[in-house]
Amino acid sequence: MNPHLPADFLWGAATAAYQVEGAVDVDGRLPSIWDDFVRVPGAVLNGDTADVACDHYRRWPEDLGIMKQLGLDAYRFSVAWPRVIPTGRGEVNALGLDHYDRLVDALLEAGIRPFATLFHWDLPSALQANGGWPERDTAYAYAEYAAVVAAKLGDRVKDWNTVNEPLCSAWLGYLEGRFAPGIKDLRQAIHASHHLLLAHGLGVRAITANAAEPANIGLVVNLSGIEPASDSTADVEAAARMDGHVNRWWLDPSNGRGYPADMIEVYGVEPPVVGDDLDVISAPVGYHGLNYYFRQIVEDDPNGPAPRARQVPVEGAATTAMGWEIHGKGLADLIHRLANEYGARAIYVTESGAAFDDKVAEDGSIDDADRIAYLEEHLGAVAGAAEAGAPVKGYFAWSLLDNFEWDSGLSKRFGLVRVDYDTQVRTVKASGHRYAEIIAEHHGRHRLP
Ligand code: FCB
Repeated sequence: MNPHLPADFLWGAATAAYQVEGAVDVDGRLPSIWDDFVRVPGAVLNGDTADVACDHYRRWPEDLGIMKQLGLDAYRFSVAWPRVIPTGRGEVNALGLDHYDRLVDALLEAGIRPFATLFHWDLPSALQANGGWPERDTAYAYAEYAAVVAAKLGDRVKDWNTVNEPLCSAWLGYLEGRFAPGIKDLRQAIHASHHLLLAHGLGVRAITANAAEPANIGLVVNLSGIEPASDSTADVEAAARMDGHVNRWWLDPSNGRGYPADMIEVYGVEPPVVGDDLDVISAPVGYHGLNYYFRQIVEDDPNGPAPRARQVPVEGAATTAMGWEIHGKGLADLIHRLANEYGARAIYVTESGAAFDDKVAEDGSIDDADRIAYLEEHLGAVAGAAEAGAPVKGYFAWSLLDNFEWDSGLSKRFGLVRVDYDTQVRTVKASGHRYAEIIAEHHGRHRLP
């Protein structure tokens, strides 16, 4: 499947702090907006919280053992802002920072390249109390935090993600209210979107200025190919609006094109750009981080909320336990779009994976053939894109471990490794074994004689 992937293609797996760490009140960590949100009745399926999750904060040495067993080249993790600067701004909590310091040392010792994400949605609650991402100050607070982490880890960490999926923070958090902080307000959402992108740009500067070693920095966006449900003008225009909402709103400004004018009109809200913000946001990056889960077939929704377009189910399509259509080709299409339309010269698939209702056999094994098929389909798409000349440099499976899937709680399992939440026992699923085999094959093929 992978003869076309470059010899130095990176095989990784990803997690995010709030989804795996647990230990939410340990070593000086203070609450994030997610700690608050999970306590809102009805916000998370089954009332699950991430207070314990995979207990990765304590059990990471065991998890590192599993990464070695799988033969991973890279581990993408996120640093928890509420551990490092618990009040969001001001005093640095050395204990929190030390955790990542140890993790990075151990990863490097194991020959696993650390990819550090600085913001994967766990905004310190103290900053939300001051307005959160709709406030410009939050972007400055982020830059200070990024500088602290880069100064501490930047002698060893070379690869950085500034912000993970600003779309989810802004649109799901401040527009649809499905994610923390659970706000439904278009104006706040637009302001949040701009400040998340500004944080990315300020983050590029802060990391570059504070890391002791040259830093390879990228923004991580989640994109979806958008297709109209019919060829009616209304649906075709709805698809263009959805593409603006999901893809262009993030890609255009971060690639030097400014905000899409058609979308400013659709929203009826101007992003709060000040001074040279657009230059800051579009500072050159080392790579494009792409998270891919599904494409969207959309129809016109004239009376719906912005962008007045809604996703419709694809008849007969195979879906994951999230109800997301399985469509590997969509990943290749997006890789090509980043390269051809936006001039990306290095692309990492920073997340790709699927939740399925795994069955544990009597002997404890998990034969997740559906996840293996998903993995192979998506890796095939990546290999196809590479063969066609796209600069795709690595793939991070989402996720290393089953974990806390945001508003879906603990019930949706994305891991290559099962976590029994009662006992914290880890079991590598068949998909994990298959991934290990694919990695070994690739390395074998490229090993010098
Ligand atoms: C992405 C998130 C990640 C995970 C996957 C399933 O949107 O970045 O944390 O929840 O979806």
